Amino acid sequence: MNFQDELTKRTEETEKTIRSYLPAEEGFARTMAQAMNYSMLAGGKRLRPMLISETYGLFGGKEETVKPFMAGIEMIHTHSLIHDDLPALDNDDYRRGRLTTHKVYGEAMGVLSGVALLNYAYETMFQAFSLTEEPDRVIRALRVISEKTGIYGMLGGQSVDVENDGKPLEKEILDYIYKNKTSALIEAAMMTGAILAGADEQEVSVVEEAAENIGLAFQIQDDILDVTSTVEELGKPIHSDEKNNKVTYVTLFGTEKASAQVEELSKKAIDLLKSLNKNNEFLYLLIEKLINRRK
Ligand code: IPE
Ligand code: IPE
Ligand code: MG
Ligand code: MG
Ligand code: MG
Repeated sequence: MNFQDELTKRTEETEKTIRSYLPAEEGFARTMAQAMNYSMLAGGKRLRPMLISETYGLFGGKEETVKPFMAGIEMIHTHSLIHDDLPALDNDDYRRGRLTTHKVYGEAMGVLSGVALLNYAYETMFQAFSLTEEPDRVIRALRVISEKTGIYGMLGGQSVDVENDGKPLEKEILDYIYKNKTSALIEAAMMTGAILAGADEQEVSVVEEAAENIGLAFQIQDDILDVTSTVEELGKPIHSDEKNNKVTYVTLFGTEKASAQVEELSKKAIDLLKSLNKNNEFLYLLIEKLINRRK
């Protein structure tokens, strides 16, 4: 398999799916629809929707049911980025190679379009009921996604992250932050793929553990890129963590040790997935390629 060609092809397919679910830019609230679409259409790696479809494929899933979930999870993720960049949080001006939403549409629209995307994600994912013969699976997936996004997941992590800006942190709290602000949504994505394809509870929990490791590795690499990359390559500002006086894996351990942990966590994730005795070569390669990603 030529991984790069396959990645391009699958990213394009994911892009098409996402576009087909975006809100129309019409009516009195069209400015907000434009602000929602502005960041949704700015590109991005589309990793989380891809993890849904690849995990779905790992368990033999073949239906359209995943599509509204793919779009929905990217809306939740994009909501988290719009809000993460707000002046009250990380206060960053660039995202996905463009000015941030609040820079273009103002802070009020940044707040509103972010939360509207979070809501629109559910409006979108509910459409899965009309595409499935297995409504119980859709209900289980919705429950996982809602739990992994809120106080016991992504938003819990974001809140502990911002309230500790400028404060020294123990590794234990840092791990809580990473597992929640970043791993939780990746867990939700992969568990959704598994659940919709009919995986049993034991299998879903193996997927959850693998995804937790992928998320940790992903966030540590994000911290590394914050100090080693460039704005051009990354599409977002570098040294954002330093600006906000954040403790990260890089400040605690240095880039070299942090890199070694990215590799270890990713390998562990691949081993866990392989222990399921299924096969998706592209998924294993995707996780492996994330170790040395440059953006
Ligand atoms: C950025 O996520 C936020 C983190 C969890 C580190 P991505 O690096 O997946 O951002 P996009 O979607 O490609 O822009
Ligand atoms: C953000 O972590 C994670 C979420 C948005 C949930 P960061 O603040 O490090 O993400 P970037 O570097 O701005 O993308
Ligand atoms: Mg942040
Ligand atoms: Mg940030
Ligand atoms: Mg970062």
